[in-house]
Amino acid sequence: MRARTRAWLAGLVVRRIQTKGIDLTQLSFIPEPTKVPLQRDGVDPLPRLAELRATDPVHRLDLPFDFAVYLITGQDETRAVLAERTRFSNDIRHLFPGTGPANAGDIGGLGFADAPVHTRLRKILTPEFTMRRLARLEPAIEATVAARLDALAAAGPPADLARELSFPVPFQTICELLGLDLSDRDEFARLGSARFDATGGAAAAFGAVSVQRAFLMDAVARQRVEPGPGLIGQIIREEGDAISDRDLAGLVDGVFTGGYETTAGMISLSTMVLLRDPAYAAVVRDGTRAEVDRAVEELLRYLSVVQVAFPRFAREDMDLLGTPLRAGDVVIASLSGANRDPYSAGADPDAFDPARVPTSGHLAFGHGVHRCIGAELARMELRIVLPALLRRFPDLAVAVPQQELAFRQLSFVYGVDELPVTF
Ligand code: HEM
Repeated sequence: MRARTRAWLAGLVVRRIQTKGIDLTQLSFIPEPTKVPLQRDGVDPLPRLAELRATDPVHRLDLPFDFAVYLITGQDETRAVLAERTRFSNDIRHLFPGTGPANAGDIGGLGFADAPVHTRLRKILTPEFTMRRLARLEPAIEATVAARLDALAAAGPPADLARELSFPVPFQTICELLGLDLSDRDEFARLGSARFDATGGAAAAFGAVSVQRAFLMDAVARQRVEPGPGLIGQIIREEGDAISDRDLAGLVDGVFTGGYETTAGMISLSTMVLLRDPAYAAVVRDGTRAEVDRAVEELLRYLSVVQVAFPRFAREDMDLLGTPLRAGDVVIASLSGANRDPYSAGADPDAFDPARVPTSGHLAFGHGVHRCIGAELARMELRIVLPALLRRFPDLAVAVPQQELAFRQLSFVYGVDELPVTF
């Protein structure tokens, strides 16, 4: 009976992931302890995460599955697991009965793929994310930011910073990167807002995901005939028929999903944190390039908007820093936990310190072969948008107390969908 219940619950999770991506908000049966890495108090992780890091850094979650799920919360454990190439797999297809290798792209692109598929697909994307290629995007990002700051000024005060700035900047940046033309962008934006807007009900959101995929397939097919100036056209020029429209649309969808809400979350939450103290805002508004870069790194560490890394599956029975794991067990790395580890972050890891130089770097972009491919692009966007915002609006302030803001609940990517500001 217990086995049947487990199978039924596992089936529910899998169906939900298949239809809506990984969003646990609707899974009310998940036991409280498992929600810990996704819950926060404002921008801070819950104290329980620090307790676990100190007392049980490889913590077995109480879940009704036939395999064990472990939550790791420390910097060392996280680095050790994410750096593993052979003993862990990212491939979740064994949870999706009936899916073959050809369907890997449907499930989640790079993040859920292993070598050799991951190596092949990542190699196709990498040249587009080098500093040299990204430098070409800089003027476009600056122009987008300037236009969005004008839009913010026209909308208020008060105005919604998330709507006017935090979402449009990464959206336009990714469209520029991909080489979508202006009419495509309007259509894509319309689909994108349906995808992330729950007011139309779940069915509308599910519909929008598949319509968005279909839209990308269509954009890829059109560029196959006439390759455009961005990433889609470049890949078509370099790969030709070696990459199918479907694989390419999947890669593009992964880039969009990976780079949109993450960067938007960072822009809104960073603004909130910088406005807590005029001295913080001054560093970013008036600081040297090195000071701004350091503050951006600290914001990435402190906010850790991607709360957990992609799940890792043990390929074999093994010992993980003293804990025995069986083949098939799952490890969830809490990046917000690891980034507040005093061992690596340095003194007072729960404090925001724009001049901090962490003892051993941070893990906001992950680590190892799946480390975020868009890290340099995200840094570039933040380095452009945050100083420009603070310079343009010297009296910028969040319009409501923090406890009135609607922070995301149980979302893998943390953030706020609205941020009312005055200026
Ligand atoms: C501040 C913004 C961002 C944060 C915090 C972030 C964070 C992350 C993290 C933690 C991972 C997973 C690492 C792992 O499980 O090992 C990841 C993977 C990924 N990110 Fe980002 N990301 C950001 C922006 C972007 C941007 C701008 C893009 C592209 C335009 C992007 C595209 C991707 C892709 C394609 C992957 C999968 C890489 C792979 O599996 O090989 N991300 N990101």
